[in-house]
Amino acid sequence: MVPDDYEQLYRRLTQQPLVTMPPLGSVKPMPARAELPSLPKLERRQDFLQPWTVPYPRNLFFTGREKILEDLRAALEASGRAALSGLGGVGKTQTATEYAYRHRKEYQSVFWTRAESRDTLLPDFVAIATALELPESAAQKQEEAVGAVERWLEANPGWLLVLDNADDLALARDFIPRDTQGHILLTTRAQATSVIAERVEIQEMETAEGALFLLRRAGIIARDAPPSAAFEGDRQLAEQISRELGGLAQVLDQAGAFIEEARCRKALGHDPETTLAGHEQRRGKMVHIASVPVFPCPSFRP
Ligand SMILES: Nc1ncnc2c1ncn2[C@@H]1O[C@H](COP(=O)(O)OP(=O)(O)OP(=O)(O)O)[C@@H](O)[C@H]1O
Ligand SMILES: [Mg+2]
Repeated sequence: MVPDDYEQLYRRLTQQPLVTMPPLGSVKPMPARAELPSLPKLERRQDFLQPWTVPYPRNLFFTGREKILEDLRAALEASGRAALSGLGGVGKTQTATEYAYRHRKEYQSVFWTRAESRDTLLPDFVAIATALELPESAAQKQEEAVGAVERWLEANPGWLLVLDNADDLALARDFIPRDTQGHILLTTRAQATSVIAERVEIQEMETAEGALFLLRRAGIIARDAPPSAAFEGDRQLAEQISRELGGLAQVLDQAGAFIEEARCRKALGHDPETTLAGHEQRRGKMVHIASVPVFPCPSFRP
């Protein structure tokens, strides 16, 4: 008996069906090279290799300031220099950061320096020299890197240089290159900026703007939601707080963080009087801001 017959007989006796292997499939013919779909177009090289030394992430709660951002853009386009000037804690650094993120695609490079003192400016200029791969970045004297960066800024267009917290304008002037084709943005508490740059004033937030920031920061509404997303009572209370705190962004931020914290404590049931379940029954999915004892709270008053 040949082996094939033996297998058939064995399968019949053990009642196993005879399995025959299917023929191998054939390879599908490939379309000609010319017919292949074109690859997706990659972003410009500068989009992912852009020298960028901004030390802050984008503020996801950034609210308002549209007119100031427009004025900054206009001043920079007109004269190449703008000084964002206002009180401490009013939002200068945040607005400059937001400007850098919003317009980053319009610049080939974006550089950030902390201009509060020579001790912060020097290492930040060395960091720029490093980002630009200038040999002077490794020089022993940090001043050599500053000189090299200034020469580079004078020779190249298409960059943004931020001097943040440049309250000492005389110091800032030492670090500003002379003849440039880029944009220089200062943030400063000083008011007499005209010798250096066109002044764009930033003031405390308007009541409605401050209230919107507070509602978002406290988690009462989503980060990108309009004021109408809040209950009328919450909106009124947020406006009252915004007014009482004088629209100072830094103080509103702290108040928002406090309210959020208090809401979370209640939500976790640490407050014996109220629990999230109780609030949810009363208020749908929302926890009511009015139930949080925000006032009196002297530490938040400016
Ligand atoms: N438009 C805004 N939206 C949301 N939050 C903001 C806004 N502006 C400022 N803040 C909040 O206020 C805080 C203080 O703002 P910022 O540091 O920009 O103030 P400043 O004017 O630069 O103060 P200083 O003069 O002390 O440098 C920020 O950390 C941020 O939490
Ligand atoms: Mg600042």
